[in-house]
Amino acid sequence: MTERLVWRRFTAADADDLLTLDGDARVMRFLDRRVKSRADIQAQVLPRLLAFYDRYPGFGCWAAHAHADGGFVGWFSLHPTSPSAAAMVRWADAPPGEIAVASMGYRLRVSAWGRGYATEGARALVRRAFTHLGIQEVVATTMAVNTGSRRVLEKAGLTYDRTVHVDWPDPLPGTEHGEVEYRLSLTDWMSGQAAGERDAPYRKRVQNLRLSLRFSKLRSASVHAAVVTRYRPAASGANAAITTLTNGVTQVSTRAAGAG
Ligand SMILES: CC(C)(COP(=O)(O)OP(=O)(O)OC[C@H]1O[C@@H](n2cnc3c(N)ncnc32)[C@H](O)[C@@H]1OP(=O)(O)O)[C@@H](O)C(=O)NCCC(=O)NCCS
Repeated sequence: MTERLVWRRFTAADADDLLTLDGDARVMRFLDRRVKSRADIQAQVLPRLLAFYDRYPGFGCWAAHAHADGGFVGWFSLHPTSPSAAAMVRWADAPPGEIAVASMGYRLRVSAWGRGYATEGARALVRRAFTHLGIQEVVATTMAVNTGSRRVLEKAGLTYDRTVHVDWPDPLPGTEHGEVEYRLSLTDWMSGQAAGERDAPYRKRVQNLRLSLRFSKLRSASVHAAVVTRYRPAASGANAAITTLTNGVTQVSTRAAGAG
């Protein structure tokens, strides 16, 4: 799904991979004081994670593996959420069928840190949300002191919105600095003012399509065909990304055609 990562759904057989994350205190430093056991993962983490795929088709938590050697890298997630004035960590799930905002997350095993994987995956999440799932805004939150995660969000194009203070029953070190919330709207992503350079070609293409739609009578089916022809890459390595783009352009073009 990305240049260096293959994504897949988790299955009931993935307790060991998840244990390399939730069972490692270094990974959980900004998330939970208590690390999980294999039994915790079997009884709590996996059932919750697997149930999500059915409830919210297209969303969820994907296991990521390195193309190069197939090794488990960690996970990336998109979760439908309902914005409110409360701290983002308290926002409720969006009702299925009324999803406009998605929160993103990632958790990588220690051996995968420092190679740009989180940035690569986070950018793919943003792209998927906007071009495949019809999302209007991508949001994320982390502890203010989680410098690495904040940097990943910025590199994925999200911008800092506010700091909130949450009353946790067993606060982690650094909680006194609060939780920071980040956001990125579809409009900003498309205008190219907020996202990183790697996504610029996608935004430009979607933007060009919207502009051309304003001045044409094309409807989504024919536009879709035109885009497939026009942007099909010469290199087979880019197929996965272009599939997403193609799907996304279909969605965006439908909206644009409707508005026009
Ligand atoms: C935070 C995390 C996702 C970063 O993953 P990663 O693959 O190492 O990140 P990247 O290699 O893409 O680095 C992205 C940027 O963050 C910076 N960064 C990463 N970890 C950092 C850290 N611990 N401290 C400071 N900066 C850090 C990198 O230097 C890079 O910035 P740069 O390009 O300006 O140099 C990873 O450490 C992790 O999974 N941590 C545990 C789980 C977690 O905290 N998840 C987020 C919860 S909200």
